Amino acid sequence: MRGGDDGVSTRGGGRSVKESASEMIQLVLPNDTNLLGHLLGGRMMHWIDLVGAVVANRHSRRPIVTASMEALDFYAPVLLGNLVILKGYLTFVGRTSMEVGVEVYAENGLSGERVLASRAILTYVALDDVGKPTPVPSLFFESEAERGRFDEGRERRRIQLERVKKVKAARAEKEDS
Ligand SMILES: CC(C)(COP(=O)(O)OP(=O)(O)OC[C@H]1O[C@@H](n2cnc3c(N)ncnc32)[C@H](O)[C@@H]1OP(=O)(O)O)[C@@H](O)C(=O)NCCC(=O)NCCS
Repeated sequence: MRGGDDGVSTRGGGRSVKESASEMIQLVLPNDTNLLGHLLGGRMMHWIDLVGAVVANRHSRRPIVTASMEALDFYAPVLLGNLVILKGYLTFVGRTSMEVGVEVYAENGLSGERVLASRAILTYVALDDVGKPTPVPSLFFESEAERGRFDEGRERRRIQLERVKKVKAARAEKEDS
């Protein structure tokens, strides 16, 4: 059962969070680091966007574009030689948009010690054959945690759309004058 445009599926239909959840592993090489031997923020953002895009593509099975990167926090530096484990999973699905959460862990390849280094939230939009936003499958929950993340995502989207609306209105006003 599909619960309206918010892409919630309570029973049957839709796809689970698990079906599109994706993991990517990178090794930090000298070319990925700054002068301190820390992973460049921009390189991390690129990897985050890639794993998020894989999740959105797997859920929608459509070409997708990144609409926004809503939050990006760096908690700990990632060092030259570390393994970087990026875990992406859907948090919210709208009509044509998909919100993906990405957790980034830095792992010491010798000791196995792993720390949460970064977290991000991004939104992707699925496109049809002429490049227009197109509906995506609804999402069904398998845990209370998934339901909780969905509710948080819905609230984030409400705030985000208000911001986008204001920007579009300001742009239209400028074009008219
Ligand atoms: C993202 C994009 C496709 C949206 O197009 P649009 O004409 O504004 O489409 P709509 O207003 O119909 O919105 C489509 C969906 O995008 C969402 N959306 C639009 N702008 C958004 C933004 N800035 N952040 C988050 N979501 C956004 C809307 O909420 C809507 O979601 P829903 O269908 O689930 O309700 C368009 O702005 C675009 O192509 N942007 C450039 C993308 C790009 O180049 N990315 C970098 C390289 S991949």
